[in-house]
Amino acid sequence: MSMQFINLTENIGSEVIGVNLAEPISKDDMNKIEQQFNNRAVLLFRNQDISEEQHIQFSRYFGELEIHVLKQYLLPENPEILRISNIQENKKNIGISDAGQYWHTDLSYTKTPSRCSILKAKVIPERDGDTTYGDTCFINTASAYEALDADMKQRIKSLKAVHSYTDRYEKMRLAANSQRQPLTEDQLKKVPEVIHPVVRTHPITGRKSIYVNEGFTTSIVDMDPEEGKKLLQDLYAHCTSDVFKYRHKWRVGDIMMWDNCSTQHLAISDYGPDKLRFMHRTTVMGSEVF
Ligand code: SIN
Repeated sequence: MSMQFINLTENIGSEVIGVNLAEPISKDDMNKIEQQFNNRAVLLFRNQDISEEQHIQFSRYFGELEIHVLKQYLLPENPEILRISNIQENKKNIGISDAGQYWHTDLSYTKTPSRCSILKAKVIPERDGDTTYGDTCFINTASAYEALDADMKQRIKSLKAVHSYTDRYEKMRLAANSQRQPLTEDQLKKVPEVIHPVVRTHPITGRKSIYVNEGFTTSIVDMDPEEGKKLLQDLYAHCTSDVFKYRHKWRVGDIMMWDNCSTQHLAISDYGPDKLRFMHRTTVMGSEVF
């Protein structure tokens, strides 16, 4: 069967049909996948029975892989894979149990944020075999930028914003039932605050997008804090409108990949500790934001 793409919504995402990521993919098909990815920002591959090595190999096609700062949640034998999970062993989570439960773009808090992330569903919370929980929502921030009115585009054109990992980490650490420990000196050194333009240009497509997110953006540079907060809230409300959104209902074996230049995502936490969820994520390195 030849490869096909089926759009998930009008503004974001395609499902890729007819590809087995456990088998070699021709250069021609890989080029088509990459082109579709650049255009649609999110790709879904269903029913993928791939090993950790195959997950890493496929991810490497898109660039070098990040090693996450929370080393305790990396797979010891394959540290390119970050575990996201509420499963516990010896009363300790094996992965980040509260990852992404706020709108964010992966690694926007670094100087050279990630190009894309590739997430594999291993265990999905379910009830009675048919209702599943722990969906992930994605928004297309390039479409959101294009839909802004001319005044807002003019207003944000030259603005810059601060992004901070530690600010978000502390919020999550102080939340009820958090298992997060204070970051070590070494971890803190790896994640200083960074400043990026509020409007980002995609390094491949040239499309502009809104590059501030509720997860990691803390303020607008050189703007009164209250005014900056209000502007950020307005941009978040605009970006998360349903028209730019796709909500993914996971099945075990799904692989989702998303473009961190032009999307944000949110993991829905609608299951308790009695329902288990387990994902493997690779994170592809990116380049400086402009
Ligand atoms: C993340 O990468 O932010 C987590 C997404 C998810 O677990 O659905």
